[in-house]
Parts: sequence; C-alpha cells; structure tokens
Amino acid sequence: MRTLTVDLAERSYPIHIGTDLLRQAQLFAPHIAGRKVAIVTNTTVAPLYLEQLRAALHGYEVSEIILPDGESYKNWETLQLIFDALLRDKHDRKTTLIALGGGVIGDMTGFAAACYQRGVAFIQVPTTLLAQVDSSVGGKTGINHPLGKNMVGAFYQPQAVVIDTATLSTLPPRELSAGLAEVIKYGLICDEPFLTWLEQHMAQLCGLDNPLMSEAIERSCLAKAKVVSADERESGVRATLNLGHTFGHAIETEQGYGVWLHGEAVAAGTVMALEMSYQLDWLTLAQRDRGIRLLEQAGLPVVPPANMTAETFLAHMAVDKKNIDGQIRLVLLRRLGEAVVTADYPADILHKVLTTDYPAIASSI
Ligand code: NAD
Ligand code: GLY
Repeated sequence: MRTLTVDLAERSYPIHIGTDLLRQAQLFAPHIAGRKVAIVTNTTVAPLYLEQLRAALHGYEVSEIILPDGESYKNWETLQLIFDALLRDKHDRKTTLIALGGGVIGDMTGFAAACYQRGVAFIQVPTTLLAQVDSSVGGKTGINHPLGKNMVGAFYQPQAVVIDTATLSTLPPRELSAGLAEVIKYGLICDEPFLTWLEQHMAQLCGLDNPLMSEAIERSCLAKAKVVSADERESGVRATLNLGHTFGHAIETEQGYGVWLHGEAVAAGTVMALEMSYQLDWLTLAQRDRGIRLLEQAGLPVVPPANMTAETFLAHMAVDKKNIDGQIRLVLLRRLGEAVVTADYPADILHKVLTTDYPAIASSI
C-alpha cells in the first residue's frame, strides 16, 4: 500500500492506494469518532463490495443507505434519502458517512456530510477509476441542477480516501475509459512526461494491468493533491483541473445527465480545448493531434455530439462556475503540460472552435 497526503493544515488527510484495502479495518478506525457509521452506496456497487466493507466495520452500528444508480439521480430527491435514513437511524454529530462508489456517490455523500447537523465526518472509498483519480480527492461535493452540472454544493474535505484498486476488476470498459479522460488531463495540464508514459502504456492500462494502473492512479492523485493543497477553494490554479469541463459540462447538461458519461463529455471537451489552443497558436498541429490521439487510444469520444450547435454550447457555458462578470473563462493549454485559465481570447476563435468539423479532424489523425 502507498499513502499520499493532501496537505491542508488541520484538514489534511491521507489517500491510501493498494489492493484489497476494503477489508482493512485499521484504515477506517482512526477516522471514526463515534459508534455509528452510515455506508452510502448504490444498487450496482452494494452487491459487489458492501459486505467486504461491512466486515472492516465490525463492532460499529452500521446503517446501509443504498441509492438508485446513475448521474440522473444526483439531485435533491436522492440526497433527501440519505437524510431520511440518518434521522431514522438516529445518527448524531459523531457519526461518520462512508461513500462507497463512483463520483456520483462520492459527491452526494460528501454534500450530505457537509449539511447533516451542520457537518459530520466522511470517508471516501472510490470504486471507479474516475473517482479514484479525481473526484474522491479535494473536497468538491454537490449535486446537479436541471439548468447546470454540479451547481449546488460545498467544499468539504473527507477524513481519508481509501482506494482499493481491486474494485476496478468489475468496472465496465466504458467506465474505465471515462476515468482515463481525467488521467490524461493531468498530463496535459501539468505533467508532459506523464503524457509520454501514458502513450507508452495506454494499451496495458485499458487491459487493467494492475501495477501500471496503480502507478497511473498514484501519479494522478499526487498531481491532484498538489493542486488542491495549493488552492483548496479554486481561487487560482485549481481551475486548471477543469480542462475540457466547460465544453464537457455543456454536453452533459444538453444531452441529459447520464447520456454521455462525465469522462466522455470531458474527453470531447478536451479535444475542443486542444483545438482552441491550436487556433490561438499556443499548440502546434502535431501537439493538438498528440492529445487527441491519446484520448482516442483510451477509447474515448473525440467528437462532440452532432446535435450541439454553437448556440447550445454558449447557452450552457454561460452558467459555468468559473465565469466572472458574465465572461466565459476557459482552461486552455499554453503548451502540453501547462494550462492557463483565461477569458482573454478573440470571440471569433471561440466561435470557430464551436463550429469546427470535428469528425473531419478525427478521421484525418
Ligand atoms: P458514477 O459514480 O456514475 O459511476 C459509474 C458507474 O459505475 C455507475 O453505474 C456505478 O454504479 C458503477 N460502478 C461504480 N463502481 C463500480 C465497480 N467497481 N464495478 C462496477 N460498477 C461500478 O460515475 P463516475 O464516473 O465515477 O463519476 C462521475 C461523477 O463524478 C460526475 O457526477 C462528476 O460530476 C463527478 N466528478 C466530481 C469531481 C469532484 O472533484 N468532486 C471530479 C470529477 C467528477
Ligand atoms: N475535478 C476538478 C476539481 O476537483 O477541482
């Protein structure tokens, strides 16, 4: 097992990465203050991993909160089910919530922990690649609103993140690819040598080679922990973690939550950010195509949905959380391995990017 630290003074916490960690009671006990624990999971993950985790929590009074599965359930109604169960089972302020699942469960459980009795402890046990490399680390919690992705939420850090890489063995290939979008993101925004490493190992990562996957998870968590430690509440560098997300969130919201997976929308959005960086003369054609090729090797869509127009993109991008005074701020690449957040770009270049013939680009690579 490897342990990294998210360094946030009194809110610092460990990220444990290894195989078969779900059963290891000693990873959980130091972070549980009271006698009661609530495991929040969903109908897909519960039959796979709930019993293992319960065994590690032997001796505690455990409530099981099993939610419906899917991005379309990341909303107020489902959040209320968590509060209903906590109150029914008389959980007090010393309770600890444990999020067992992907990013949807992690984001909702974290938000419930931030709100319940004005804040209780929670632990992240991410079981998708996307959650292991991104959403479980950093304390962004929340739910979707019909008018905007992740628009209601709180910054609220977990007590610990326990990443059991063995859980990836049951993950559908489409979900694995979605997670790789966020892994590739770290290479593009802050670690060019990691891009080269990913190019060399993408086939094995898609085949779930455990040592290589563990290394990819660790490098991703290191990158994320560093950024979060420097800028917990996204007043600066943390926004670069949103590469491809401004376009991607527009795709997710317009298509209907869950139709495009978050990682898939981020991949197509990243292609648009690569194209914009190329149009601004910050990237060469070869650098743009290198990024697109890597996303394609990971089995990800590199073309936005055909039914999205410049107008639909702009309507959704106008409610992005990074926007200031009505200006759409985008994460773009100055070079491979260096991202900037800027609203200082010619409007006609953004329009060109929104109307580019992406199928033509993809087929020419
Ligand atoms: P998800 O939580 O919907 O999980 C994907 C699917 O995999 C679900 O059907 C889930 O039940 C299933 N699953 C989970 N673990 C499994 C396993 N081990 N074996 C088999 N099936 C399993 O999606 P996700 O991609 O994990 O997360 C996406 C969400 O994360 C989005 O809502 C996104 O907004 C959010 N997100 C948050 C942050 C953050 O910083 N908080 C960062 C990135 C993404
Ligand atoms: N996934 C973006 C962030 O955590 O800031």
